[in-house]
Amino acid sequence: MKSLHQRVLFLNSILFVLQVLLTNQTSAAGPDCQELIQNKCASCHFVKYICPKIEQGKGTLSWKWTINAMVKEGLTATDQEQDRLVKCLAEPDEKVKAFCPSKEQRP
Ligand code: HEC
Repeated sequence: MKSLHQRVLFLNSILFVLQVLLTNQTSAAGPDCQELIQNKCASCHFVKYICPKIEQGKGTLSWKWTINAMVKEGLTATDQEQDRLVKCLAEPDEKVKAFCPSKEQRP
């Protein structure tokens, strides 16, 4: 006989899976920003190169331009990855801002 407890456990695991799927979709839609930037932008120069622009709060267009310039320098990233990088850089989350600890803005 199925106890209430078992059903609750079952429901919980469904919710857990749903939550993982949903949060992955909404918050990331791909690899972690910090990871992506670290992987893609740290091979030729220090990741800190992005800091002046992060601190100026440059928008999508400016970052698109930068990514294009980096591709010409030899950055390899798919169109999808480039779009994602632009997003990650134009709207940096805390982890991305942590690349630039010295001038970290505090609310
Ligand atoms: C293949 C090598 C390479 C990779 C990979 C690379 N860069 Fe660069 N980057 C360069 C070189 C070379 C310069 C200096 C030349 C220049 O300033 O145009 C530079 C300069 C910069 C600058 C300062 C110049 C400016 O116009 O503001 C920024 C910002 C920058 N890179 C961001 C990035 C970001 C973000 C990534 C990851 C998406 C990245 N780079 C990946 C080679 C690379």
